[in-house]
Amino acid sequence: METTTSVEALRAQVSDWRRQGERIAFVPTMGNLHAGHLQLVREARAMAPRVVASIFVNPLQFGPNEDLDNYPRTLEADRQKLVAKGVDLLFAPAVETMYPRGAQRSTRVEVPDVGQGLCDDFRPGHFTGVATVVARLFNLVQPDVALFGEKDYQQLAVIRRMVDDLGWPIDIRGVATVREADGLAMSSRNQYLGEEERRIAPLLYQTLRWLVSEVKAQKTDYRALERAAMARLAEAGFTPDYVEIRHADSLQPVSMGELNCVVLAAARLGAARLIDNLRVE
Ligand code: PAF
Repeated sequence: METTTSVEALRAQVSDWRRQGERIAFVPTMGNLHAGHLQLVREARAMAPRVVASIFVNPLQFGPNEDLDNYPRTLEADRQKLVAKGVDLLFAPAVETMYPRGAQRSTRVEVPDVGQGLCDDFRPGHFTGVATVVARLFNLVQPDVALFGEKDYQQLAVIRRMVDDLGWPIDIRGVATVREADGLAMSSRNQYLGEEERRIAPLLYQTLRWLVSEVKAQKTDYRALERAAMARLAEAGFTPDYVEIRHADSLQPVSMGELNCVVLAAARLGAARLIDNLRVE
């Protein structure tokens, strides 16, 4: 696997593959790779003869009081995992390479509707940061297909919408959330949890499962269910940001009767902010 920090080297390799008519699958990440990321790579491998991964901790998607400085950076260990999974090229640029004029002075991509509400209410500017960096990465890598974890459900919706609105010929694939044995969704931020918090953390997933079963039962108003789920989390020691039952595609609020739903939650537990979601199928 070649590793490059340079746009020129990335472009040269991508052009070479394109000339040979080879399809390219792309897995963008912020590094600190866990089994969830490796599942993205595995599916990418099955979809195209060439797989590009990127590792870039994107300052534009972190708020002023968030964990940009502490975000775990483990490039060498990540590299080895990607080699073992048969990735062809790793792009690991510096901040100055991605934002030559500075992150705050770069052109931005803002996605309305699906990019508003939910996490955006608690992390203003986050999805603009995500859409901006993913747009730049897509233009550099020019992939045929790109893969993202379904754990970040709203992020996936934002990227799908951006690609659709801008007319890029990129197939966006969501990959099922990989969970620990007790149900906790894998996330780099799980390592911020202390021992007692780690014990409590799977309750987020359990609460979502309960919520899905209640939605399916169609006995209780959705707003009342959301409030009950928030109360469950608070009682267990979380500080919930939101628990919402939304339309699975538009992410708009829905009322009882609508079954094409996703239940989404974000909650803080100690130093970690955890997010998770489940489709009502
Ligand atoms: O999901 C992530 O790791 C990041 O938000 C992404 C998509 C790599 C953009 O920085």
